[in-house]
Amino acid sequence: MSSTFGKAIKVTLFGESHGECVGACIEGLAPGLKVDMDYMKAELAKRSARGSISTQRREADEPQIVSGILNGYTEGTPLTILIKNSSADRSAYAAMDHIARPSHADFTAQAKYLGFQDAAGGGHFSGRLTAPLVAVCSIVRRALEEKDIFIGTHINRLHDISDRAFAKDPAADIKALSAEYFPVLDPEAAQRMKSAIEKAGAAGDSLGGVLETAVTGLDAGIGEPWFDSVESELAHALFSIPAVKGVEFGAGFAITELLGSQANDPFGIKDGRIVTLTNNSGGINGGITNGMPVVFRTAVKPTASIAAKQQTVDFIKGETAEIQIAGRHDPAIVHRARAVVDSLTALVIADLYARRYGYMWLRG
Ligand SMILES: Cc1cc2nc3c(=O)[nH]c(=O)nc-3n(C[C@H](O)[C@H](O)[C@H](O)COP(=O)(O)O)c2cc1C
Repeated sequence: MSSTFGKAIKVTLFGESHGECVGACIEGLAPGLKVDMDYMKAELAKRSARGSISTQRREADEPQIVSGILNGYTEGTPLTILIKNSSADRSAYAAMDHIARPSHADFTAQAKYLGFQDAAGGGHFSGRLTAPLVAVCSIVRRALEEKDIFIGTHINRLHDISDRAFAKDPAADIKALSAEYFPVLDPEAAQRMKSAIEKAGAAGDSLGGVLETAVTGLDAGIGEPWFDSVESELAHALFSIPAVKGVEFGAGFAITELLGSQANDPFGIKDGRIVTLTNNSGGINGGITNGMPVVFRTAVKPTASIAAKQQTVDFIKGETAEIQIAGRHDPAIVHRARAVVDSLTALVIADLYARRYGYMWLRG
């Protein structure tokens, strides 16, 4: 059983979508890291639901730190954040207690937790738990930024609408994205994506998309061989995000369409530093960072909850059934998942640095 991730720096998630609160506990943080509540709230705002492109469930997302902090700095002991579910409403789920919502975790949770699970809104499997995850990881992300390590994510593709790719040096793109709620590099593509989400939502349907992330400022030599490679650790974390169905690094699956002579990244020297002249490897060789930006893409499926009637089963009666899902849902998850991708990326990077240099490394 594991709602815990990380080795040197560990995060444990708890709570249910329509329970009293959701929360996260982070262990392994150095003492003396600044806990900047404005920064944390800005990170939570990027994950929040806004306008007609997000669910109408509107949560205040007020983080309450109940342990591990003194006078605005981490104590170095487990730090726990609670976020109240101020807009919880079980009533929409009462009628479908035993009816499996297609492509949700209702049936699999029943198979694992034998009827003792809180099924409302996906319970412990809900995207709601990503709120405290973003909150605790914001402490780590801020500390990384003080070390000039920056993370940025844009919506590379929404259904069939594409954004431009990151520039070869993504530093300026990352900066431009940092305060955006709907992170797209090409403004015209952003408009088309938003309209497509609104249209799908109005039709009671949903859309998926691909997020592209870049991390700059990394040293060469971070990561572990084999099973704790940078790719393995990032993929492990990213696949934990509800609705994520694919992760690829650098040129990704498309690298198979290249010849070796096109796929290889030649080495060179720039400003006295060893660099690669292309970055098809996504900044990783042999599972270890090579000092180039780490670049990867995360596929987010269309929201499972849609308004149309769907075929399913009543898993208690063992009968087929039809379901029409009521309640409040995101017509697309991809723009909200961006904050979660950035947060987990920060956690993985900090964890790998802490494993190499010790947990005090994050302190500076
Ligand atoms: C920030 C965020 C918000 C989400 N909101 C919804 C939602 O409103 N409706 C929904 O059907 N799924 C939503 N999801 C995804 C579901 O939680 C997820 O698809 C479901 O638990 C099944 O898990 P799986 O898709 O990983 O198999 C959200 C995910 C995230 C990360």
